[in-house]
Amino acid sequence: MVNDSAEKKYFKKIKLIEKYNKFYFDNNKPLVSDQEYDQLKLDILKLEKDFPNLKNDNSPSLKVGFKPSKNFIKAKHKVPMLSLSNAFNEEDLKNFEKKIINFLSLKKSEELEFSAEPKIDGISASLTYKNGIFFKGLSRGDGQEGEDITENLKTIIDIPKKISSKNFPAEIDIRGEVFITNNDFKFLSEKFANPRNAASGSLRQKNPKETEKIPLKFIAYTFGYSSNIDIKNQSDFLTNLKEWGFKTSKFNKKIKGIKNLVLYHDQFEKKRYDIDYDVDGIVYKINSFDLQKRLGFVANAPRWAIAHKFSADSSVSKILNIDIQVGRTGALTPVAKIQPVNIGGVVVSNATLHNEDEIIRKDIRIGDVVKVERAGDVIPHVISVDKTKRDNKSKKYIFPNKCPSCGSKTVKDFNEQTKKYDAVRRCPNDGFQCEKIAMENIKHFVSKDALNIDGFGKKIVEKFWDAKFIKYPHDIFKLDYNKIEKLDGWGDLSVSNLKYSIEKSKNINLSKFIYSIGIRHIGQENAKLISKHLKNPGNFFKLINKPSIESLLNVDGIGETQIKSIKKFFSNKINLNVLEELKKCMKITQDIDLKKEGILNNKTFMFTGKLKEMSRAEAKSLIEKNSGKIISNVNKKLNYLVIGDKPTNKKVTKAKDLNINIITQDELINMLNNTS
Ligand code: IVH
Repeated sequence: MVNDSAEKKYFKKIKLIEKYNKFYFDNNKPLVSDQEYDQLKLDILKLEKDFPNLKNDNSPSLKVGFKPSKNFIKAKHKVPMLSLSNAFNEEDLKNFEKKIINFLSLKKSEELEFSAEPKIDGISASLTYKNGIFFKGLSRGDGQEGEDITENLKTIIDIPKKISSKNFPAEIDIRGEVFITNNDFKFLSEKFANPRNAASGSLRQKNPKETEKIPLKFIAYTFGYSSNIDIKNQSDFLTNLKEWGFKTSKFNKKIKGIKNLVLYHDQFEKKRYDIDYDVDGIVYKINSFDLQKRLGFVANAPRWAIAHKFSADSSVSKILNIDIQVGRTGALTPVAKIQPVNIGGVVVSNATLHNEDEIIRKDIRIGDVVKVERAGDVIPHVISVDKTKRDNKSKKYIFPNKCPSCGSKTVKDFNEQTKKYDAVRRCPNDGFQCEKIAMENIKHFVSKDALNIDGFGKKIVEKFWDAKFIKYPHDIFKLDYNKIEKLDGWGDLSVSNLKYSIEKSKNINLSKFIYSIGIRHIGQENAKLISKHLKNPGNFFKLINKPSIESLLNVDGIGETQIKSIKKFFSNKINLNVLEELKKCMKITQDIDLKKEGILNNKTFMFTGKLKEMSRAEAKSLIEKNSGKIISNVNKKLNYLVIGDKPTNKKVTKAKDLNINIITQDELINMLNNTS
């Protein structure tokens, strides 16, 4: 009885709010007073807080206004929609510049030219035009695949529906930001938390008539796929966008050199609140399209662009206590419990202290008055201590030398490369011996970038853990749904939804699987590299043999640290058992895009000597783009030794002895050009 009632109550209330919404938004006729409506919304949010599994796409916490639909048809972006790396200060920018200069092998003194553009905090959209007609519009989605929101986008006045300019490409995806001005938001602030949510909620209405009512704006700034485009750089492209009829930012500016970027950023930051829409930083893009192409991408961000964020909001508060959290990798993170304080519209009661060294360096103590900063989606953190306000009796904080979860003696790793101890203290238990680490591992296993089990959030993992339903990742495939149904807040519907999501997650590709099992130092990118190297899942399970693990050293990007960590993972009996069990429950397949074969497929390369007008990193990335592999030793497996200026004689002689093809950089470029 009790168990069903929360779910029943919840869905009844959801139905009611939907009805109210429909009358309010669709028919413009409110059925109840604002107070009654707000109370209903609060009731729903409270139920969701108490029973997190109830939360679903209809939740008012995810939207307000008319129901954003989950029924949009998904469609692939011809060219992925990427994100941007962030820079917070001049040093980050200098590093960004240094990496570009090294990658392109340019002179250190060279001043790079950028297109600087305000980073509008809205929702990005990709608009496909065919023969000048706006044909299809997609949301960003996960970057690879977005939702078809064409009809809603068509209601936006700033989006041209037909373009007849002669130089407009036959097919092009124009990309930009959909947003709402702060002034227009004033009329919607009751229904949405901030302008960005308002734009997102409005854009995802099932009924375009609902979208039309919201004064959405669109500013264009880039393109995805394009058929024939004869434009050499970003600033010319922005000029063209204007000529084609798109709105562009009047603050876009061509700027040379990092110093001038910082000047522009700082000037803009001062006037950011005078502008009628939210701008959270400045995006700098290398202006030349040729250089952009050479620089390419790392993970899911371009090497040729960066977002320079505006500085954060901060406030002063008092540390009430220090909690030690145990992370998935065993890292002990001290978190200051602070007197709740409002920072830029958000109430903050926790602030990270990062690690033990940070506490020692800043001499942070319980009871201290501290400055706390919060920037965008970055976790709030303590920046400084006001020692003048410190109590005489205050004592130094002693970092615990035992894991608060399992009681093991904590350790600090020694880094062989830097010859220094890590700043982070950790619990030495790996895998599943420490309860907290085990639970964090399961959270990671079901998370969005891993198995992506809908409705299986962190709170549910904790609940199931406490109820002793799960102890290891494979336990989620053996859940007793009858028992779950008896838990408070669960009912038929939520259980069958969960069952469906879990079933669906059993099919997984190898790179996601490798990432999901949470080997330390193996993130998404490394998991992809390993999966690409091993090809089929069977080879992954053979890593139990040390020599197979060593062979991963041939994978560019995998170093000693990763190898050590993989060895440690595979030498743990519990981990091996987890793998065995997962193998039984799941269907692991080879990554699809790995089957694509480039020109250099199965060919291995190695470099010796300095290359012309190109860095090693750029040459490597060129080879890898064409499915070639880089190896670090001259051995029988090497197909080509590429020699640059002043090659190492030993390597050349050894290659000659082994009858390996020795080629110049020009010959390598020819190989790529001839076959493409
Ligand atoms: S360029 C690969 N330019 O920022 C280039 N993005 O963090 C990626 N954004 O999803 C996009 N203003 O929503 C670019 N002038 C601008 C932008 C901009 C805002 C947003 C966009 C994107 C996110 C990346």
